[in-house]
Amino acid sequence: MTIEWNADASEFHLRNGQISYIGRILDNGWAGHLYFGPALTDGRTYAHLGRDGFYGFSNRLGEPIALEYPTGGSGDYRPPALVVEQADGSTVLDLRHRSHRILPGKPAIGLPATYTEVGGEAETLEITLEDPIAALEVQLLYTLYRDRPVVVRSARVVNRGKTPLIVRTAMSASLDVPDAEWQLITLSGEWARERHVERHALRPGKQSVASNRGASSHQQNPFVALVRSTTTEDAGEAIGFSLVYSGNFLAEAEVEPYGTARVRIGINPEAFAWLLDPGAEFQTPEAVLAYSNTGLDDLSAAYHSLYRERLARGAWRDRPRPVVLNNWEATYFDFDEDKLVEIATVARDLGIELFVLDDGWFGHRDDDTTSLGDWQVDRRKLPGGIESVARKVEALGLRFGLWMEPEMISRASQLYADHPDWAVGIPSRPRTESRNQYVLDMSKPEVVDYLFGVLSSVLGSAPISYVKWDMNRTITEPFTTTLPAWRQGEFMHRHILGVYSLYDRLTRAFPGILFESCAGGGGRFDPGLLAFAPQGWTSDDTDAVERLAIQWGTSFAYPLSAMAAHVSAVPNHQTGRITPLATRAAVAFFGVFGYELDPTKLSAEERAEIAGQVAFYKRWRDVFQFGRFHRIRGPLDGDGNEYSWMVVSDDRRAAIAGHFQILSRPNPGPRRIHFRGLDPKLSYRVGIWPDNSTPAGLPPRPLGGDVLMSAGLAIESNRTSALQGDFRARLYVLEAVSPD
Ligand code: GLA
Repeated sequence: MTIEWNADASEFHLRNGQISYIGRILDNGWAGHLYFGPALTDGRTYAHLGRDGFYGFSNRLGEPIALEYPTGGSGDYRPPALVVEQADGSTVLDLRHRSHRILPGKPAIGLPATYTEVGGEAETLEITLEDPIAALEVQLLYTLYRDRPVVVRSARVVNRGKTPLIVRTAMSASLDVPDAEWQLITLSGEWARERHVERHALRPGKQSVASNRGASSHQQNPFVALVRSTTTEDAGEAIGFSLVYSGNFLAEAEVEPYGTARVRIGINPEAFAWLLDPGAEFQTPEAVLAYSNTGLDDLSAAYHSLYRERLARGAWRDRPRPVVLNNWEATYFDFDEDKLVEIATVARDLGIELFVLDDGWFGHRDDDTTSLGDWQVDRRKLPGGIESVARKVEALGLRFGLWMEPEMISRASQLYADHPDWAVGIPSRPRTESRNQYVLDMSKPEVVDYLFGVLSSVLGSAPISYVKWDMNRTITEPFTTTLPAWRQGEFMHRHILGVYSLYDRLTRAFPGILFESCAGGGGRFDPGLLAFAPQGWTSDDTDAVERLAIQWGTSFAYPLSAMAAHVSAVPNHQTGRITPLATRAAVAFFGVFGYELDPTKLSAEERAEIAGQVAFYKRWRDVFQFGRFHRIRGPLDGDGNEYSWMVVSDDRRAAIAGHFQILSRPNPGPRRIHFRGLDPKLSYRVGIWPDNSTPAGLPPRPLGGDVLMSAGLAIESNRTSALQGDFRARLYVLEAVSPD
């Protein structure tokens, strides 16, 4: 791996075995972009791939030149990466190269970020640009990992002058691509149907996804990809853009009139303005750009391994995650200690490893109208406190986990009576309630300090091994009483910095606790929080059919080790749908597995079935949580009625594939599942879960990985088999036969 700076050609070349990212300092000093794609030979110049600055915007045509960190107002009418308002109110910048350096590893940026762990793993290029008239300095950071097809980018903006500047837009990355014949993939949705894959051809003009809600949001995820119309899971070009950030973001592509495209990603400039005092600097979150010319499968794999190995951190990063049972859909707010212990006792008998006490244990919270902020145990429900119930759960041999929603405050709470000014809002206007609650102003250090104190004492009061950190509403009336009028544009980002500060302090103070992020399900399922909580509650929708689309879309950027997936009761509480218990498990296996139901209400047969599911998951847990995930068939294939996907162990000796049929269709034709990621030279025994039977019509001998991938395996007809009926699943367990 090298980052090469060719002084004669003024070119930089980030190159590892997989990708090259090449730029050049143009004759006018601007940072120009030349190339992002498969690795090119080093030691050569590639200036012919670009145009020079003086030809671009100095003529009337305004033909596009590719730039690394564009600014507006001098002829480039495409979306800018940086807009800075100067003392005279103007926003034109002319950023020219001043210096650069190449650093070993990856410097910390003071925000959640990818990191290195061993020497030689990565190098970072820092290019410093300056505009002497604005007295502005911009440092562009590019990290290249030795073995990953990604470039991690961010920017730091520094005021070197004597008067304040206002940063109005500061993107994390901007990328100019030389043609616009791409499709844009986004992960879009709403509460309970998050991260559904959308894929549409780019058209002239701007197209974007964004959040202005104060969280990355259920509605859009801070991930987009450019793909060719011909790109599939296993072939074709794909460029991914993922933002390590949990607040308001923008990801935008513009096709300009000459048919090139610019993509930018970063903090949403809408309503954003950051006052930069003399000497102060502003650091953007980082964007992770990934490239694949072998399809979406490899693009996702690049994100999965980077985020699992070098974004997630802490003791639980590499540890197998426990099988949990969460009491939310079992009891909602209606429980006492006896009921919880009764549930935990049955859960223990089923092989479950961790019991989570969800909402309702504090204040006087019998419904969602009260008590957020009052993090003292409700002695009516739990007379012995959290400690007593946690110890009883532990005595059963289970670990104990606790739900909390730190960033929120109920109007009916002691905290609100004491500190009404801690809730986000504009003093002269009413506050909008959502889910009967307000948001705490996390930009106030005293709020973060208070929460750290009160939550530390809860977490220190009992043997708590896991925390589900929820966040159930987004921000309205954005305003903070601590900033003057002219700095209100900083609030949304400062709020997220406060959230990160609390996460950082609590995760450091309790390094043994497994933190799971949550936001009304998957309303803040983003790389920013993965840096603190190695897993997140994927969605409040636990319906197996709905989860197919949600988990499929989520897998574009996030590893299975980050996706909590639970089996819940039927009729499903979100959709009313009745699906077989086996299907619910077969979907939830592909994630961090658990249950969200009252096991005391199950029949003996259902308990036996669940015990079998838990045992199966434990047997293959490492593969499910840390194996390589492959999507095979999904919502955009055919009529979207069938899904299949699989996980493969690192040594490729074991794999589990799931095939899911939503509606049963009469008289279907022959269908096959084409496995992926197997070792073509190995032979595999194929067994069907749960009884490990040989698929009908298959010879009772192992089959080669090559034929299983290339020719596939016939899926049994749903006329006669277990696939008859709606909402059916088939799991195939593939084990290599030794010696191979
Ligand atoms: C959110 C979460 C749920 C549950 C409830 C509790 O909706 O996503 O899993 O914890 O809050 O109020």
